[in-house]
Amino acid sequence: MVYNPAMRKKLIAGNWKLNNNSLQTGDLIRKIIALTAGISGVDVVVAPVFPFLHAAREAIGSSGIELAAQDVFWEEKGAFTGEVAPSMLADIGCRWAIIGHSERRQYFGETDETVNKKTKAAIKAGVRPIVCVGETLAERESGATEKVIEKQLEGGFRDISEFPMTVIAYEPVWAIGTGKNATSQQAQDVHAFIRGWLKAKRGSDVADVVRILYGGSMKSSNAAELLACPDVDGGLIGGASLIAEDFSAIIRLSVGK
Ligand code: 13P
Repeated sequence: MVYNPAMRKKLIAGNWKLNNNSLQTGDLIRKIIALTAGISGVDVVVAPVFPFLHAAREAIGSSGIELAAQDVFWEEKGAFTGEVAPSMLADIGCRWAIIGHSERRQYFGETDETVNKKTKAAIKAGVRPIVCVGETLAERESGATEKVIEKQLEGGFRDISEFPMTVIAYEPVWAIGTGKNATSQQAQDVHAFIRGWLKAKRGSDVADVVRILYGGSMKSSNAAELLACPDVDGGLIGGASLIAEDFSAIIRLSVGK
């Protein structure tokens, strides 16, 4: 299949992490809606904390913004105190889940194996996973970036065939919350590597349609350059997604506005 970037609609996702109360959640969404009025041709997703998914959904109304959870569990129900099942997300209209974010890997014991279980469970429930991969600074400096990414992809996607449901986010750990983004060349190199992996494992038809997002200090001042890379299909944005003006500017830039 001939490469055609038009096949992959840009996706701009805000990972709000542990921020915002219920009022701020609604306000931020309403501001983003106002600041992006008239913009089309891009998918916009926001990921508030679990308790405010409802408030977020009300603020979203018919604007077309979609909701993501920041994590999800792999079991459907039972004695798993504190967990949330994929079908519960689907039940409240939350159609996406971020899985395997490096903060979950670092602080909460997430492994490629749990990423795999969560991703499978999400797909089964019709919740689209945004699976995060990325190397640490030490891994990059020792030349292990591709090896690390490949291991995360192999483990995270073991026995998964429903790739068109899935989005992959490349988030170099050293770029998250540091203000030091990957250069567009560094991002493109890893994104091309991920697409090459998809092609080798699942063929061109799959590799051509799966969106690969970049995350790590993306902001309105560097988004245009990063989003112009042929294999960068959008952004997973932390800090800048908490500022309506910045996040909206990135949404506009993603469609050249
Ligand atoms: P920052 O944009 O704050 O660097 O965070 C990126 C991120 O972790 C998104 O998931």
